[in-house]
Amino acid sequence: MKNDPEKSNPTPISWEDILTSLEDGVIVVDPRGRISLFNQAAEALSAMSASQALQQTCTRLFKKNSWLITMIKNSLPPHLSSTRADGDFVNPWGHPAPVSVSVSPLQDQAGRCLGAILLLRDLTRRREMEEDLKRSDRLATLGTLAAGLAHEIKNPLGGIKGAAQLLRRAVAHDLALVEYTEIMIREVDRVNLLLEQLLDLSRPARLHLAPLNIHELLDQVLLLERESVQGRRVEVRKHYDPSLPPICGDPPQLTQVFLNLVKNAVQAMDAEGRLTITTRMETDFHIREAGKARGKFIWVDIQDNGAGIEEADLPHIFSPFFTTKNNGTGLGLAICYRIIKEHGGLIRVESRAGEGASFKVSLRVAS
Ligand SMILES: Nc1ncnc2c1ncn2[C@@H]1O[C@H](COP(=O)(O)OP(=O)(O)OP(=O)(O)O)[C@@H](O)[C@H]1O
Ligand SMILES: [Mg+2]
Repeated sequence: MKNDPEKSNPTPISWEDILTSLEDGVIVVDPRGRISLFNQAAEALSAMSASQALQQTCTRLFKKNSWLITMIKNSLPPHLSSTRADGDFVNPWGHPAPVSVSVSPLQDQAGRCLGAILLLRDLTRRREMEEDLKRSDRLATLGTLAAGLAHEIKNPLGGIKGAAQLLRRAVAHDLALVEYTEIMIREVDRVNLLLEQLLDLSRPARLHLAPLNIHELLDQVLLLERESVQGRRVEVRKHYDPSLPPICGDPPQLTQVFLNLVKNAVQAMDAEGRLTITTRMETDFHIREAGKARGKFIWVDIQDNGAGIEEADLPHIFSPFFTTKNNGTGLGLAICYRIIKEHGGLIRVESRAGEGASFKVSLRVAS
């Protein structure tokens, strides 16, 4: 039997429910500067529990965030002013997160000061999305330029290769000369491959999407990568969630993505290292871009304990031609980025120099 919403009694909503459900951190400071309220989002943002925070003074709690203390003081008597600012909130472990903060005096209806109220909004995800947009723009511009150039270069290269092949026949009696022509042909092939990869970056790929088992695909990638692992002692750990549903993807394209990621992970290791591959269902659904189709997503995490990435390099690693390797093209991650974007997924990196790297890819569950 259907419930008539007009007749059924709505469940009463408490302030506590509202505060717990808010995505923004809410912190209340009493007139003496002690914390008197600390909601769940504030706990997540500050990496502190409410029980640790309550009854501490804001000066102590925010000792790494003097700018916040100044804002709170401005909202308490005698100033009683409201302020708003963006800055980095540093948690007790020294990790900064970009936040937008507004602090206002808290007054009762008679105008008596009850303290100050802080609203903290975590901007990490918004920054990541802005960064994604900028990156897509950069890739599009670069792609158009590169495609034009690659096209122009491919024709003369074809001519050079043809001429070198004719030459090889003409000098077949002289082995030293044959070797020179073979170098010419090999190098032309190498440039051609590079140009193909470059063209791949700018051509919108025609995806052949099908439901697929991500674990089978990952196992196949590991099989393909066996060769590069040889000579190094790489311990592979698989933490697969066996309950994951099939995902929606183009098998050859996704194989290329995970192959590039695993290759990079192995290359970042010395003679030995550990490669951990984890799969899980996405639990926080709110991170999708506004306007994009919603659905269920899974995450694949390719983690290594290799050299890690310098902080200054992090913003550039997905840009075409960015490489720190002597024989790298710097196209691997740019290609991964493009393919995952076309799948409607996300690709994220977390890394610190000397502490390995973790590349996380999200992909849509097949409906
Ligand atoms: N797992 C990782 N650990 C440390 N650094 C990494 C890792 N993955 C990528 N990088 C850094 O990002 C850069 C760009 O990677 P990308 O795969 O695009 O190019 P590449 O590996 O240098 O060359 P190519 O993939 O064409 O052989 C690398 O040169 C390296 O500095
Ligand atoms: Mg690479």
